[in-house]
Amino acid sequence: MERIKAESVSYSYQNKYQTVEAVKEVSCTFESGKLYAVTGESGSGKSTFLSLLAGLDCPDSGRILVDGQDISQIDRDAYRREKVSVIYQAFHLFPLLTAVENVMYPLEIRGMARREAKERAKEYLREAGLGEKLYDQYPRMMSGGEQQRTAIARAMASGGKIVLADEPTGNLDSENEEKIVELLMSLAHDRDFVVIMVTHNRQIADSADVRLVMKDGRMTVSEGQ
Ligand SMILES: Nc1ncnc2c1ncn2[C@@H]1O[C@H](COP(=O)(O)OP(=O)(O)OP(=O)(O)O)[C@@H](O)[C@H]1O
Ligand SMILES: [Mg+2]
Repeated sequence: MERIKAESVSYSYQNKYQTVEAVKEVSCTFESGKLYAVTGESGSGKSTFLSLLAGLDCPDSGRILVDGQDISQIDRDAYRREKVSVIYQAFHLFPLLTAVENVMYPLEIRGMARREAKERAKEYLREAGLGEKLYDQYPRMMSGGEQQRTAIARAMASGGKIVLADEPTGNLDSENEEKIVELLMSLAHDRDFVVIMVTHNRQIADSADVRLVMKDGRMTVSEGQ
């Protein structure tokens, strides 16, 4: 099912001295149940495109539709809170919340009672491969791979089933990298998420369902399956 559609999206950064056209007339669609890999040289616009999909910036022209709605026309705070989860290379967990509290957060803001949220959060953490003794740890006490699993468990707990991951394995060794990619893959294939992942790793890109390549702000679909 089609979830996200970018229609001729462009975005520039401007300062006093210059304008950088970071994203140029990008059109593509993203379906649930699929893992998309976005590759391309440094500076080609991958992170900028992801931040547009995340509703963190607005396109200068063109539009982004999520479930048929133009995200510039809807409450973007609610969109970010309820529909998309963003996973970064440097882990963005809430530092003052434990692993289980981090995962409870999206459940509680949707109104789930604390006790039930806690039980659910533990299930998600378990499914993300995190051992029970880590549930009450704070992020600073966890390894990079453990933090990233927690971030993925939190994404599982968010309602919208859209995950945008910007080099999620950039800080991990290859063993952890493989496991995190498997987890993201299972979100797409087993839970019907749409997962859009920026990666510099060729092998990982090749394992995705669809590969997108950015070059100088433009996007091409390199292959599908
Ligand atoms: N805040 C900003 N202000 C001005 N220019 C920016 C800003 N952020 C990014 N750019 C420029 O926009 C272009 C695209 O940057 P972007 O971060 O999207 O690239 P990227 O493909 O994610 O690169 P990388 O692989 O290095 O992460 C680059 O030319 C970059 O210099
Ligand atoms: Mg980037």
